[in-house]
Amino acid sequence: MTLRYLVPALAVVGSAAAACNGPYTISSSADAAAISTCQTYSGDIAVATGNADDIALNGIRRITGSLTVKANNKMSSLSADSLSQIDDSFQLRDLQLLSTLNFPSLQSVNTVDWEGLPNLGALSFTAGLSKVASLSIQNTVLGSLDGVNLVEVDTLFVVNNFYLNHITMQLGNVSTALTLSANGNDVQASFPNLEWATNMTLANCSSIDLQSLSAVNGSLGFYSNYMQSLSFPNLTMVGQSFYFVDNPSLTNISAPSVKTVGGGLVMSNNTDLQTVNGFNKLESVGGAVDFNGNFKNVMLPALQNVRGGFNLQSKQNVDSSCARFKPLSGGRASPIKGKFVCKTTAQPQSKGNGNGGSSTSGGSSSSSSSPANPILISGATGVLGVVAAIFGML
Ligand SMILES: *[C@@H]1O[C@H](CO)[C@@H](O)[C@H](O)[C@H]1NC(C)=O
Ligand SMILES: *[C@@H]1O[C@H](CO)[C@@H](O)[C@H](O)[C@H]1NC(C)=O
Ligand SMILES: *[C@@H]1O[C@H](CO)[C@@H](O)[C@H](O)[C@H]1NC(C)=O
Ligand SMILES: *[C@@H]1O[C@H](CO)[C@@H](O)[C@H](O)[C@H]1NC(C)=O
Ligand SMILES: *[C@@H]1O[C@H](CO)[C@@H](O)[C@H](O)[C@H]1NC(C)=O
Ligand SMILES: *[C@@H]1O[C@H](CO)[C@@H](O)[C@H](O)[C@H]1NC(C)=O
Ligand SMILES: *[C@@H]1O[C@H](CO)[C@@H](O)[C@H](O)[C@H]1NC(C)=O
Repeated sequence: MTLRYLVPALAVVGSAAAACNGPYTISSSADAAAISTCQTYSGDIAVATGNADDIALNGIRRITGSLTVKANNKMSSLSADSLSQIDDSFQLRDLQLLSTLNFPSLQSVNTVDWEGLPNLGALSFTAGLSKVASLSIQNTVLGSLDGVNLVEVDTLFVVNNFYLNHITMQLGNVSTALTLSANGNDVQASFPNLEWATNMTLANCSSIDLQSLSAVNGSLGFYSNYMQSLSFPNLTMVGQSFYFVDNPSLTNISAPSVKTVGGGLVMSNNTDLQTVNGFNKLESVGGAVDFNGNFKNVMLPALQNVRGGFNLQSKQNVDSSCARFKPLSGGRASPIKGKFVCKTTAQPQSKGNGNGGSSTSGGSSSSSSSPANPILISGATGVLGVVAAIFGML
């Protein structure tokens, strides 16, 4: 006889009695087998630090709480043949030997939090994890995220997975933040359906496909990437700042539809970027325009309103660009409202130190007194903090 719905009182099987509600700690494969008649497990399930057995949570279709395995250096396999949903978190942390993660039915998890999995090279998630509110994968040896194909996510954080070179998802939107940093040496990141996001930080990628992106409500930043071109064919606005920092091979940025940047527009230390001619509709910058590098020609032909300062410093001769921008400066009533600096110099500097600004003196090429200052603050985990470039605001 098959029991379709079990109430806890009926789940008692011999002496290995296990109720279908938690919290429950598994210390052996027998403990896992003891709850296999629970189609829905109400509550949290954890695997004990000392467990060395392979754990198969077979039979269970849904866990209403979380599934947690932490600080275990003995177990090598975790699986669940029927589990399709975990209502709370799926946390795997510091599991030295875990090499098999087999969840062929898993589709929906509120929070995926995996960190410190030095033996986990691949996932076996055949149904495809498609619904996750927050996904964080750090310090694993995963070679791919095959089996994770989110359509919608609040937070996606994929950092320090040194063998991961392909990150492709069908994401339509990212409601809080997407961060990719310090993964493989040749990361091809592709989010071809992504239409809008709040904050996005992309670092150390070799290609990035954002062909559908139309709006970023927060900040959009590219740091230490390796590609020559970045293109945003459909992007119309960035709500906060737009950063291009330390992308050594970048020669071409194409953002033909961007009209407004709500914070700063920052291009710093992109060694090969000599020409900026891909922002032909950019009208309004809510913070500062802050460029330093090897520019020869900077064109922002539609620029009408810069609330902060304008700083363009280049090792190469940018005089003709400066001559175009200078007439736009001159204080409150002018298109460029903040301090204006535009010059050719051996040591191009950023002004993006977040300091509120002085009023403009009308566009003199005064030399910069602010220190060369890094815009990035690398945190312990490789997370990037960003200081908004809004110097010179009136
Ligand atoms: C977010 O993207 C998903 C998948 O494309 C879509 O179903 C959903 O309607 C989108 N939500 C918003 C608010 O755009
Ligand atoms: C987006 O990032 C900016 C700058 O780092 C931060 O100030 C802002 O709070 C973030 N917004 C969200 C919704 O996380
Ligand atoms: C770009 O935007 C247009 C107009 O909104 C839309 O028709 C087109 O499909 C978008 N392209 C991509 C690649 O999303
Ligand atoms: C971000 O902007 C898009 C397009 O303007 C909008 O559809 C979306 O609701 C906004 N998201 C948030 C979280 O404000
Ligand atoms: C990855 O990006 C970070 C932050 O932008 C940078 O500090 C680091 O040097 C980069 N690593 C490589 C290998 O490029
Ligand atoms: C600028 O980029 C070069 C080449 O990628 C790098 O060596 C240097 O450290 C960077 N400087 C700063 C201040 O980030
Ligand atoms: C820059 O990129 C755009 C879009 O990808 C492309 O159409 C254009 O030809 C490129 N320009 C150069 C000089 O490579």
